[in-house]
Amino acid sequence: MPAQPPCEPTATPTPPALAPRIAEALATCDPVAKCAAVRAAARDRTAGRLTEIGHCRVPGRPGRPDRPPLRPPREMARRSRGRAGRVALLHAVAHIELNAVDLALDLIARFADPEAAGVMLPDAFFDDWMAVADDEARHFMMVSGRLAALEAAYGDLPAHDGLWQAAEATTGDLLARLAVVPLVFEARGLDVTPGMIRTLEADGDNESAAILRVIYQDEIGHVAAGHRWFLAVAAMRGVDPVATWQSLVRTHVPRAVKPPFNTPARDQAGLSREYYLPLVAPGIDPSSQAPPI
Ligand SMILES: [Fe+2]
Ligand SMILES: [Fe+2]
Repeated sequence: MPAQPPCEPTATPTPPALAPRIAEALATCDPVAKCAAVRAAARDRTAGRLTEIGHCRVPGRPGRPDRPPLRPPREMARRSRGRAGRVALLHAVAHIELNAVDLALDLIARFADPEAAGVMLPDAFFDDWMAVADDEARHFMMVSGRLAALEAAYGDLPAHDGLWQAAEATTGDLLARLAVVPLVFEARGLDVTPGMIRTLEADGDNESAAILRVIYQDEIGHVAAGHRWFLAVAAMRGVDPVATWQSLVRTHVPRAVKPPFNTPARDQAGLSREYYLPLVAPGIDPSSQAPPI
């Protein structure tokens, strides 16, 4: 009997797909390697080398380094002033940025599967969140570079896992994830970042303040992307966006919406007061404004 011929190589190799590449970055433990993988994937996507979306298994938790140790939010030390205070502030921002990288990656990889998303998402969804992931990776690297200039590094101080835990509650629902991550957490970032910038400038640390100014501007775009896609998915499902957002936020993060608000930045991102003012707890002045940048 003649020997079987070896398997013929396929004439055209399967093009690499976005979702498996992003899931691999999500599982990467080293933050610098993770950010480099994200930035390379963003370049490939923009250059048309990663056009297939594909889908794959998504890691239950993102890969993270051994340090920093993760502690409950109440165990975080209060920040002092001076160099130690600036390092603590930048370390907290670096941790938020690394979480933001993972959250953007998770949004892409998890909801690339139309069954998980519940709708067929257009390519523009993946382009937008790939650009957000790229921004977050750039933010993490900028803040890490500044920590290095202050003779510190990400991992030197404990951090908390509250952000990821809150996001995990919305794993099964794309609309809930969009309601909570960009439109509660990232919008909250717009409220508090001008205060951080002023603190750093008052301390004479204009280099760190300049980095936070860049991040602040980019984050307005992330909230805007969140609002745009929240509206789009709400329309696909035929639900009222404002009432649905309020219901999802009450369910998943009931106490997370609180003044003072940065109304001009929220307005710029399309997140109007009709969404969030009704969620302010009774007895708290909802008109309290965060000081401008
Ligand atoms: Fe960021
Ligand atoms: Fe962001």
